[in-house]
Amino acid sequence: MKLAGRVAIITGGGSGIGRAGAALFAREGAFAALVDRDGNGVAETLAMLRESGGEGSIHVGDVGDADFARLTVEGVAASRGRLDVLMTAAGFSCGGTVVDTDPADWDAVFRANVGGTWLWARAAVPIMQRQRKGAIITLASQLAIAGGKGNSAYIAAKGAIIGLTRTMAVDFATDGIRVNALAPGAIDTPLLRHSFARHADPDAVREASLQRHAMKRFGRAEEIAAAALYLASDDSSFTTGVVLPVDGGWLAA
Ligand SMILES: NC(=O)c1ccc[n+]([C@@H]2O[C@H](COP(=O)([O-])OP(=O)(O)OC[C@H]3O[C@@H](n4cnc5c(N)ncnc54)[C@H](O)[C@@H]3O)[C@@H](O)[C@H]2O)c1
Repeated sequence: MKLAGRVAIITGGGSGIGRAGAALFAREGAFAALVDRDGNGVAETLAMLRESGGEGSIHVGDVGDADFARLTVEGVAASRGRLDVLMTAAGFSCGGTVVDTDPADWDAVFRANVGGTWLWARAAVPIMQRQRKGAIITLASQLAIAGGKGNSAYIAAKGAIIGLTRTMAVDFATDGIRVNALAPGAIDTPLLRHSFARHADPDAVREASLQRHAMKRFGRAEEIAAAALYLASDDSSFTTGVVLPVDGGWLAA
C-alpha cells in the first residue's frame, strides 16, 4: 500500500474527483478526512470507504471559510497525530463571459476554487513543515492552459490555482513539501453535467467537448484519482511545481 499509516484531507470529498481520490487513498492505507459543503455526499463517501475497509471522518462546511479551514486542518492533524496529504478538489463553475458574469458569481467561484486552495494550504503547510514532509495536490483544469468558451470566472480561477501551486512549490520545496496540480480534461462528474446543462443545446456542447479529446471520450474520476495517488505518494518524491494534464489528449490535439 502506497499510503499506509498516512493522513489525508480531501476537499470536495462528497462527489466526483474528490470522492474517487479519497476512496483510492483509503484503499492505499490512508485515513481520509472528507471535507464538503454537501453533508449527504461526504456521508455516502465515508460509507463507501468503510465498506472497502477504509477509515475516515467527515467535515461539513464551505471551503472558502478561513476558520473552517484552519479548525478542520488543525483538528484532523491533532486527532490523527500528523497530516501527510492535502488534496483540494472542492470547486464549481458558473459559466459566462466576462461581460455576462455577475460579480457575486465571480466572487463565489474564486472563493471556492482559489480560496478553497489557498486557505487549506495555509493551514496545512505549518504542520507539514514541522514534519518536514507533505504533499499538496491542487485541482486546476486543462481549460486554464488551453482557454475555453463562456466560462471566464472558472478558467481565471483555475489559472490562479496554477500560479498558486507553483509559488507554493517553490516557497516550501526545502521544507519537504511538494505541491503539484492536476489539470483534468472533461471528467464525467456532476460538475461536468451541470456545465453542459447551462447551454441551450446541452447535447451539442457535450458532443463538441467529447470530440475535442484525442481519445474521443470523457475521463472517469478514478483516472484522475490514479494521478492524484502518484502525486500524493513517494513515487513522485522528486516532483514539485508540476501541472499534470490528465486529459485524454485534449491539450495535444
Ligand atoms: N469534472 C471535470 O470535468 C473537471 C475538469 C477539470 C477540473 N475539475 C476540477 O476538479 C474538482 C472536482 O470536480 P468534480 O468534477 O469532481 O465536481 P463535483 O461537482 O462532482 O464535486 C465537487 C465537490 O465540491 C463541493 N464544493 C463545491 N464548492 C464548495 C464549497 N464552497 N465548499 C465546500 N464544498 C464545495 C461540492 O459540494 C462537490 O461535492 C473541481 O475543482 C473541478 O473544478 C473538474
